[in-house]
Amino acid sequence: MLTQEIIIRKRSREALSAVEIQQYVKGIVDKSVSESQIAAMCMAILLNGMNKEERVSLTMAMANSGTRIDWRQENLDGPVLDKHSTGGVGDKVSLMLAPIIAACGGYVPMISGRGLGHTGGTLDKMDSIPGYISQPDLQKLKDVVRDVGCAIVGATSDIAPADRTIYAVRDVTGTVESMDLITASILSKKLAAGLDGLVLDVKYGSGAWFTDYARTRDMAQTLVDVANGAGLRCHALLTDMNEVLGRTAGNAIEAREAIEFLRCENIDARLREVTLGLCGELLMIGSIAESAAAGYAMAERHLHDGRAASFFERMVHALGGPANIIDDFPRHLPLAPLTREIRAARAGVIKAVDTRKIGIAVIELGGGRRLASDKIDHGAGLSGVAAIGQTVGTTDPLCLMIGRDEDSMRRAESLIREAYIIGDPGEAVIPSPLIRESIIP
Ligand code: URA
Repeated sequence: MLTQEIIIRKRSREALSAVEIQQYVKGIVDKSVSESQIAAMCMAILLNGMNKEERVSLTMAMANSGTRIDWRQENLDGPVLDKHSTGGVGDKVSLMLAPIIAACGGYVPMISGRGLGHTGGTLDKMDSIPGYISQPDLQKLKDVVRDVGCAIVGATSDIAPADRTIYAVRDVTGTVESMDLITASILSKKLAAGLDGLVLDVKYGSGAWFTDYARTRDMAQTLVDVANGAGLRCHALLTDMNEVLGRTAGNAIEAREAIEFLRCENIDARLREVTLGLCGELLMIGSIAESAAAGYAMAERHLHDGRAASFFERMVHALGGPANIIDDFPRHLPLAPLTREIRAARAGVIKAVDTRKIGIAVIELGGGRRLASDKIDHGAGLSGVAAIGQTVGTTDPLCLMIGRDEDSMRRAESLIREAYIIGDPGEAVIPSPLIRESIIP
């Protein structure tokens, strides 16, 4: 069938067959489908939606558009597992989760992304480690996962190439926000990575992509349905992103917080609950633990006995970074030279935070990108970020800004001041639940 006939069928709200979807995706890879046809199809999908069968077909066709990693040849003695987060501010969970799962007996080829909009990216955080090769070729990825147990890396060009082409078109045609296209984009890369199990951290709140809970829940249900429909065991946790996760936001500063966490020092309680909660769920999905609670306890044990820290250190070294990142992390993760505390404008209780503004403040400091081509200042960011429910006086800091020039610090400061809503002293603040719901097929 002609590509334009397939587009017309979707434009007319008809359901596409698996064969039509495969033909369209194949044409993207062999370039017989043009960019204007990709754009037209994306808009038709965004406006008219897809049913569950179409979503599964699109996801599978995109996963099959390049290499699908086959781990059977590696004779691994445990399941291949991963986590995906829909993104937030201060979300450094992947840096701890990958080595914790490896320490528990799983294998984690964690294919991660860079910062997107106001949200930070795992790959940018790993790139703050000197020498770390975050984009190895497929063979190196396989070697490190087999020998060490985990590798946090970017997608290689052979993983789901159709996604890369479609994503670039979506980015400039106002079609990023389609739930069907987001689902196929995220899951095609996870299916191509050859996983046995996946846990999704779907975030809601002021720092997430969707602030609205009902929409976030729909997204989580769609992702879980499509993943399981495509043969990948997958559950989702809906977690709170109404404030920064942990006490830092940036790149090197978040890598420092993650390493302190693995050293069991200064662990933020919310960060701990989300990280261990996701680990518990994933260990259950991978049948390493009998229940999420047993998985949580196992993850906690290997965090405390130092095994997870040693897996992180070995992964960093195997991918070109220093051999002693856990012991010598301040030296390997330098910060920008200027620091300034932002004090609360009035005494009271922190009632709410516009977390998106905090993410944008990090971009202002140089810790994120305005354009895809921008270079990141890995040393810029925020530390000591105050939490909702905390009582502050006018001499107490809301956070410490770390930057490189006065102008950007001034712009970041005004965003952070706008972001914090401080109520009267003693005012009761009810925090949103940290893990609000789990979605299973
Ligand atoms: N992450 C992805 O990989 N794809 C999307 O479409 C959105 C987030």
